[in-house]
Amino acid sequence: MTTNKTTCKNLILDYKELGIQIVKISRIKQLNALNTETLEELKETLQVFAKDTTVRVVILTGDGDKAFIAGADIAEMKDMNTSQGVRFSRLGHDVAKLLEQMPKPTIAAVNGFALGGGTEMAIACDFIIASENAVFGQPEVGLGIIPGFGANFRLPKFVGLPRAKELIFSGRRVKADEAFRIGLASFVYPVEGFLSKVIEFACEISQKSSEALRASKKTINELSETNGLNAKLDAEAQTFGTLFSSYDQKEGMSAFVEKRKPKFQGL
Ligand code: HXC
Repeated sequence: MTTNKTTCKNLILDYKELGIQIVKISRIKQLNALNTETLEELKETLQVFAKDTTVRVVILTGDGDKAFIAGADIAEMKDMNTSQGVRFSRLGHDVAKLLEQMPKPTIAAVNGFALGGGTEMAIACDFIIASENAVFGQPEVGLGIIPGFGANFRLPKFVGLPRAKELIFSGRRVKADEAFRIGLASFVYPVEGFLSKVIEFACEISQKSSEALRASKKTINELSETNGLNAKLDAEAQTFGTLFSSYDQKEGMSAFVEKRKPKFQGL
């Protein structure tokens, strides 16, 4: 299989035969956590791939063997104020919407930790394939915030409302076998040779009619509850931002950076 590799600062772009485009987030030292710069690179790149007819399927994955995306970058978010929080959330929404509305299939190849914004980017893809070491979760409430890249809207679509609430309220981690059981992951493959297995499946899809795939994705999206999507996401961004003027957000994120347990107000 021939490949054509390009590297941005925080992304590795790898084009394979049969129209398979891999987008690999590469901030290995931060476990591929999403900062503003990476989100902007993703936005620009996905806009190009949406229009590029040689790209038939997009695979989103993480560099290294430990993480898909360990969430939004907590060190960057720690000192944000409300308006910066709203802006950051909206930038993540732009990226997630590009994955969700791209006129071709998008697959999340979850190869390790997919926490917070990591799970949120995975569920913005059409479906998820997980490696055996994948770990999902929405730990935001433990940081004094809420999910802000669309999980309040998209997670219930994957796992149902009570399960989504349970996961968001508890912040507990979900391993690959449970992710498969609750409908978060469509397949689970061994760590060894994981990406090749995902590519194999993507190749099967990429050889179908691209026109029919485009029509199928558009119809499924339109018939699912995406009415008023922007207003729903805006409500999430506003609430997310509001929490950035709270004591608990500053305490939760400082505690993570200082590697200690948070002491929330009222505890
Ligand atoms: C910034 C992060 C990070 C993150 C890990 N790192 N996750 N930096 N933002 N989300 C950094 C650590 O600070 C550390 O840097 C290095 O990556 C390795 O992480 P360790 O914690 O030492 O590794 P380990 O003990 O193996 O634990 C892995 C982990 C843990 C379980 C994934 O790192 C973790 O809990 N990360 C945070 C997960 C999280 O809460 N995500 C949600 C964020 S909020 P140093 O410099 O110490 O080596 C979110 C909101 C989305 O995503 C919506 C926004 C609008």
